[in-house]
Amino acid sequence: MDKNRVITIANQKGGVGKTTTAINLATALAAIGERVLIVDLDPQGNASTGLGIDRRDRKRSSYDLLMGYNTVNETAVETAVPNLWIVPSTMDLLGFEMEISRESDRAFRLRRALNTAEAKSFSYILLDCPPSFNLLTMNAMAGADSVLVPLQCEFFALEGLSQLLETVDQVRRTVNPALDIQGIVLTMFDARNNLAQQVVSDVRTYLGEKVYHTLIPRNVRVSEAPSYGKPAILYDLKCAGSQAYLQLASEVIQRERRRKAA
Ligand SMILES: Nc1ncnc2c1ncn2[C@@H]1O[C@H](COP(=O)(O)OP(=O)(O)OP(=O)(O)O)[C@@H](O)[C@H]1O
Ligand SMILES: [Mg+2]
Repeated sequence: MDKNRVITIANQKGGVGKTTTAINLATALAAIGERVLIVDLDPQGNASTGLGIDRRDRKRSSYDLLMGYNTVNETAVETAVPNLWIVPSTMDLLGFEMEISRESDRAFRLRRALNTAEAKSFSYILLDCPPSFNLLTMNAMAGADSVLVPLQCEFFALEGLSQLLETVDQVRRTVNPALDIQGIVLTMFDARNNLAQQVVSDVRTYLGEKVYHTLIPRNVRVSEAPSYGKPAILYDLKCAGSQAYLQLASEVIQRERRRKAA
């Protein structure tokens, strides 16, 4: 079996489009026939809610997975999207950090949980991180092959980014030398805004090839979709935001192919 790819969607900044990207990228990958799993690592549980998983149906969660109480198959819930599964999150995750902060394997709980035949039956696993650099994000970075960074097209974007890249370097030096950057995706782009244009050009100058060609536009349909418990791609396939996420998925796949060939 081909090794699967675990991609963590991270940015310690809040509200930049991590969850929206996790949901729609996962849906796009599932739509082309990949078997995809999202692990919701944010106690807010936005990815779970956005995929229509009712709180009552979250009997087992990413907390149970991290604690080693349950396996991937025992915690994963099927979504309305064919080929897409999610390990939902519950508020229990809030206790995770305190409960295991003294354990020597505290950063490797997710890696261990994903190092199983069950997990490897998914071709892509996407990890939705909380907006902070805590033990949950650390587990995500330690357990992933690569990081995908959503960056909102706004003035402070670059400032937060250098902090994030420093964190990735630190993770490489300590817990995960193989951690790669899949890419950086610019989100909520508004073409009418001159500042946004400037941010795009600065980010491309600074990071070059790491930045995907796809720009995710600011799009009302994308922001409405979660309240219907649906990915934008199901809610309105034709809208500009959905189309952009499909394009992003094909870039992600191209990069994976190139990496395999190298
Ligand atoms: N392309 C877009 N167009 C319009 N609204 C968007 C777009 N992407 C995300 N949003 C909206 O912006 C808000 C933040 O997005 P999202 O929840 O994906 O960010 P996040 O980084 O996961 O946030 P948090 O840090 O709180 O986890 C949400 O209300 C979402 O619906
Ligand atoms: Mg989120």
